[in-house]
Amino acid sequence: MKIVVIGGTGRIGSKVVNKLREHGHEAVAAAPNTGVNTITGEGLAEVLKGASVVVDVSDSPAWDDASVLKFFETSTRNLLSNEAAARVGHHVALSVVGTDRLSESGYFRGKIAQEKLIRESSIPYTIVHATQFFEFLKGLADWQMADGKVHLPPVLFQPMAADDVASGVARVAVSPPANGIVEICGPEQFRLDEMVRRRLAQLKDPREVVTDPNARYSGAKVSERTLLPGSNARLGETRFETWLAQSGAQRPAA
Ligand SMILES: NC(=O)c1ccc[n+]([C@@H]2O[C@H](COP(=O)([O-])OP(=O)(O)OC[C@H]3O[C@@H](n4cnc5c(N)ncnc54)[C@H](OP(=O)(O)O)[C@@H]3O)[C@@H](O)[C@H]2O)c1
Repeated sequence: MKIVVIGGTGRIGSKVVNKLREHGHEAVAAAPNTGVNTITGEGLAEVLKGASVVVDVSDSPAWDDASVLKFFETSTRNLLSNEAAARVGHHVALSVVGTDRLSESGYFRGKIAQEKLIRESSIPYTIVHATQFFEFLKGLADWQMADGKVHLPPVLFQPMAADDVASGVARVAVSPPANGIVEICGPEQFRLDEMVRRRLAQLKDPREVVTDPNARYSGAKVSERTLLPGSNARLGETRFETWLAQSGAQRPAA
């Protein structure tokens, strides 16, 4: 089966491409540096020829509110219209657990717009909602900086390894469309502030993490369970300590 992975050179996308190839599929990594750009439309019609499934794991290169919204709206519109012309049978997109509850955040308004376009299109689809990646904990700290400190609310979340995200997305890509949302998450719950503090300490990152019940998450108010998946979520197997013990997880770039 030919499966085009938009954002197939990224953190999740490159793993999805490898997993699909390991299972014998013709997985094509599509991104600007492979000649496919969903914003300009460059290379899109060509790469979609003969594709049964499109997996969209791209992300906006710029994270200010206006750029994110413009990226997800333009990219998703271009993708879906080209998929309709190429008679693609399944559009799979990666989004985030709780997206619909986070509309006060500019980033999540972009993801909400992306999901709306997918639901309203004629292409059968599955939206995969994943929790925060272990690999993103430092990025999360960068996101939450104010006055030189990391401000985080002590709410629950259930993060997961990028490798398990990619396995979950690849599994969905070779399954029939759900025409709805599939949630995936890690095996353990943590408190957001404690987990980021622990990760920064492991990375010898000296930034202080301030526990602040009023701190917003990416600009949105959150309560105890806002970031948690529902009871039907599929559990990834990698525990945080196991991920940490694997080579590479200690590097500051993670
Ligand atoms: N961070 C988290 O904890 C989290 C949790 C749940 C879900 N997600 C979702 O996961 C998705 C992927 O995240 P990631 O960390 O794997 O992203 P990433 O590493 O930043 O990769 C983004 C990919 O998008 C590609 N891209 C950018 N502009 C493009 C364009 N105009 N046309 C085609 N491709 C383009 C990039 O290609 P180039 O490298 O060539 O620019 C790259 O391959 C995102 O949609 C995000 O919302 C994230």
